[in-house]
Amino acid sequence: MAARHAIPEASGFPWWVTTEGAEQTAALGRRLGEGLCGGEVILLYGPLGAGKTCLVQGLCRGLDITGEVVSPTFTLVNTYPGRLTVHHLDFYRLEPDTPLEDIGVMEILDEVADGRAVLAVEWPDPLLAELAGMEPVFTLLGLMGAGPRDRRWGLRGPDGVADDLAGRLGFAHREDESC
Ligand SMILES: Nc1ncnc2c1ncn2[C@@H]1O[C@H](COP(=O)(O)OP(=O)(O)O)[C@@H](O)[C@H]1O
Ligand SMILES: [Mg+2]
Repeated sequence: MAARHAIPEASGFPWWVTTEGAEQTAALGRRLGEGLCGGEVILLYGPLGAGKTCLVQGLCRGLDITGEVVSPTFTLVNTYPGRLTVHHLDFYRLEPDTPLEDIGVMEILDEVADGRAVLAVEWPDPLLAELAGMEPVFTLLGLMGAGPRDRRWGLRGPDGVADDLAGRLGFAHREDESC
């Protein structure tokens, strides 16, 4: 796997929850979406098939987006109008030399910074340098769990804010986990 597809260490994530099946992952995303107020950046890491897109589909439902939400694997950017605009990006197939300006990223970041939109990005590493000064930035890490339908989700974010979010979404602190 190329370095630009690196996945962060699980040890860097203090909050964890397990979903069993795609419906539970979508429900987690929906609850996340329902609580967003604009300006949030959500970085999604995890191997292919972890459920990152599934979680964003739920997030869109939580923001009253009713139409089809599809993976931006090939389009790189999908935008959905809802209670807040959702920009769903996936940089897995971004060619390394592609200027981010060419795919409208600067306009997207302006809209997010203004609080009119939220940003959810799969394989976000090419974007990280552009996120300086943006807040809050939450990071989710999806990993395969013990069972075939189990996914473990790690969460990290700004002190205080991430703790609140974790509590609302049913994440447990790493030290409190039974497994
Ligand atoms: N707990 C789960 N959460 C999300 N997806 C799951 C889960 N269990 C099985 N799946 C399946 O895994 C696939 C996840 O795909 P997707 O969301 O596109 O992953 P990613 O975007 O991380 O590559 C879907 O086919 C889904 O049905
Ligand atoms: Mg995906």
